[in-house]
Amino acid sequence: MKVYIETYGCQMNVNDSEVVLSILQQAGYTRCQRMEEADLILINTCSVRDNAEQRVLGRLDVFRQEKKRRKGVIVGILGCMAERLKEKLLENAAVDIVAGPDAYRDLPRLAAAVAVDGKQINTLLSHEETYADIAPVRMDREGVTAFISIMRGCNNVCSYCIVPFVRGAERSRDPQSILREAQTLIAEGYKEINLLGQNVDSYRWRDPEDPARCVDFASLLEQVARLDAGIRIRFATSHPKDMGDSVLHVMARYPNICRHIHLPVQSGSDTMLEKMNRKYTRAHYLERIAHIREILPDCAVTTDVIAGFSGETDEDHALTMSLFREVRYDSAFMFQYSERPGTRASRHYPDDVPAAVKTARLNEIIALQNEISLESNQRCVGRRYEVLIEGPSKRDAAELMGRTSQNKTCVFPAEGHKAGEYVTVEVLSCTSATLRCKIA
Ligand code: SAH
Ligand code: SF4
Ligand code: F3S
Repeated sequence: MKVYIETYGCQMNVNDSEVVLSILQQAGYTRCQRMEEADLILINTCSVRDNAEQRVLGRLDVFRQEKKRRKGVIVGILGCMAERLKEKLLENAAVDIVAGPDAYRDLPRLAAAVAVDGKQINTLLSHEETYADIAPVRMDREGVTAFISIMRGCNNVCSYCIVPFVRGAERSRDPQSILREAQTLIAEGYKEINLLGQNVDSYRWRDPEDPARCVDFASLLEQVARLDAGIRIRFATSHPKDMGDSVLHVMARYPNICRHIHLPVQSGSDTMLEKMNRKYTRAHYLERIAHIREILPDCAVTTDVIAGFSGETDEDHALTMSLFREVRYDSAFMFQYSERPGTRASRHYPDDVPAAVKTARLNEIIALQNEISLESNQRCVGRRYEVLIEGPSKRDAAELMGRTSQNKTCVFPAEGHKAGEYVTVEVLSCTSATLRCKIA
């Protein structure tokens, strides 16, 4: 039997799809790359903004056509949207299985039960599940960079955010299982490991035999970095309220921990931050940035921001703009506020910024950040960087693509090099998104 899987949403979802493939492989499925060949079509979904859900609903229409064309094909919806909408999704003619993020071990049973009993659902959330014992089937093509989820769920209640509702309570994974997985990846030839969690700074493992023994994120990061100096380590996401200096000092000691911190700010206005329940102020955030710059002078900083949250005034927006000018991010993910049903914001704070105003503010932030990203990249021109080659460039197969430690994308003529190699490049020119280089 063949399974086809499509993945939407964040890196954690990509890693979850790898876990799903592993579970199904053990149950006798093989993976296929084309929906037309599959007995089981899966879609791993995201609920973070309404447009993410709309895209998935569009795909379900396509799967429904496929089911009409080939009798017996089973379609399963997985992930955050499955968890949020539960039974409601069973009303969709395309859907046979609804499985939430903690129900993936049950997928072989659910798939087998469809033929006998019809539509199946499992959206139970767990306090323990971390899939620690499952070896993900890696989906990246070149075998260079891989994800390891070090925790699941989220215990923060940012008022706009659906994630805690669809991913459940935060739980950290046994560090020994993380180190074992990293070692396996290294043995398989991987060169870069990405440690993932919604808030890595709250990673905490207590030894069940000796609760006084506790591993926090700084010490986990150090243990992973020590496995092999030739392997790059990245991590995301850091939370401004929890990211202490100990993580920065560990980074400073290990050159193989990449010089990049993704530190979502969400807004530059204290009024908005309070209403968002982010639990830090603009001043605290800027103090964290100052510590990064002091301890890690060559570290890139990137962020996420939301334009047009409930009650956001022109003054609040101006504060986000001024924060962007002050921090000078290397790049940013920028979003319009999208109200999510069931969140604290949806219950207490009206979605009252007109759509046109949200869009105008978002466009202003994007225009500003594009200028700043370009300046940040222009500072790289003429310099040399060590780059890990990830594979052919998307635009031109004769060129290669790789990243600097600061997570800047470089493209350069291959000159006989290949994915998985470290090369030193010289930056010749740039856009706001890419460094154009040659092998130095
Ligand atoms: N755990 C991470 C973020 C996960 S969601 C953190 O705490 O920073 C990724 C990003 O989506 C968030 O940083 C936020 O900028 C954005 N986002 C989340 N909910 C949103 C919503 N309702 N509308 C618009 N953007 C949202
Ligand atoms: Fe959402 Fe906040 Fe948790 Fe991030 S920390 S996933 S924004 S609730
Ligand atoms: Fe990720 Fe989207 Fe779920 S961002 S955790 S896939 S809601």
